[in-house]
Amino acid sequence: MTNKDASSSPLIDIESVGFDAGAHVFVKHALAALEPGQRLRVVGCAPGFEVQLQDWCRRQGYALEWAIEPGPLNGTRRVASIARDTQWGRWRDAMQTGRSDPRGANAVAEHARPDWGLAARGAHVEAGSPAYAFRLASKHEVWADNVADLYKQAVAAQWDPDDAIDWHVPFDNPPAVEAAVVQVMTYMVENENAALVVPARFLGQLHPHYRELQAALAIQVADEARHVEVFTRRIRHNGYEPSLSTAGGQASLKTLLDEPDFSIASFLLSVLGEGTFVTLLQFLQNHGPDPLTRRIAQLAARDEARHVALGMSHLLYRLEREPVLRMRLAQAIEHRHEALAATSGLNEEVFDALILIAAGEPTLSAITRGYALVQQLMTDMADGRYARLVRLGFERPLARELAWLHTRNFM
Ligand SMILES: [Fe+2]
Ligand SMILES: [Fe+2]
Repeated sequence: MTNKDASSSPLIDIESVGFDAGAHVFVKHALAALEPGQRLRVVGCAPGFEVQLQDWCRRQGYALEWAIEPGPLNGTRRVASIARDTQWGRWRDAMQTGRSDPRGANAVAEHARPDWGLAARGAHVEAGSPAYAFRLASKHEVWADNVADLYKQAVAAQWDPDDAIDWHVPFDNPPAVEAAVVQVMTYMVENENAALVVPARFLGQLHPHYRELQAALAIQVADEARHVEVFTRRIRHNGYEPSLSTAGGQASLKTLLDEPDFSIASFLLSVLGEGTFVTLLQFLQNHGPDPLTRRIAQLAARDEARHVALGMSHLLYRLEREPVLRMRLAQAIEHRHEALAATSGLNEEVFDALILIAAGEPTLSAITRGYALVQQLMTDMADGRYARLVRLGFERPLARELAWLHTRNFM
């Protein structure tokens, strides 16, 4: 570097401030103001500052040269000259984790790199950052176009069980009917536990780059925790304890937890299971024997409708790009049906409890009415599954068949 070049570059004086006292921030700030390719000249007089500056430049990845220039009082002085790279020093090999699109939002990448790790989407990640083994790291495997909206809706629709439910509302169910409510709520807690654990496990495997989905799954898990809470409180409301849990019901739910593919699990859990659950909750909202049960069912049904919407939206997104997935989804229903063929599916206790709930009292005429309502519930559940399968592009005869092959456990 010639003196002519040097004297044309900006010069800063850090005076007696050392690099152990904040001088680096001043140098960094001055470098940031330069155009790429320009040099920054630095002078100072703190003891040992030359070694400190040299060390800082090495760690930051800046090339540093020294020159002798004319100094004050006709003397000379050593001047540091730091090159401002096109990229910033040690950030020169940084990866950007998604580029801004014209609307200003950070673009969602088709594949998220393991070494983007936990960084905020859009951040620059320093080269050499550790790689994280997030199994779900491709957009088509997990994404849904309206996932950000669904998350926003979920945030706005959160409810506090103590405010949203009047736990002191008076009612007096016949003991047989109250026991039936307890049995159905016991069954529902078990199903809610599956609905909580399945998304929670995928959440831990999801690359945080897909943060809208991460948020939607997280709030879904919180919804399910609230459902477990209110159903449990309803069980204990009149001094009862949880009732019966069957091997068949647990076997059905276990197939959901055992499914490793996010899309197939969403299909079985959300589109079919939670979709069926919405119909059940609406049934309880309409035919529940007491205002407390009806209110709890109403609030839970609203949340479940969002979970179904997320599952549907994801499957529509993926099927559009990968129509062959439709066949795997059909096979998943068939395999599950075969795996559960030996179990009784929905236990007799739950089925009979639903009849008593709809009856409202254990008289013959009421039970006859309750039985007809539960038969209608089964048909409504299958019709709902059929409609969702058709929306996902299944041929009508196949959709009809698959709708009825769904687990007798409902979820
Ligand atoms: Fe739930
Ligand atoms: Fe749910």
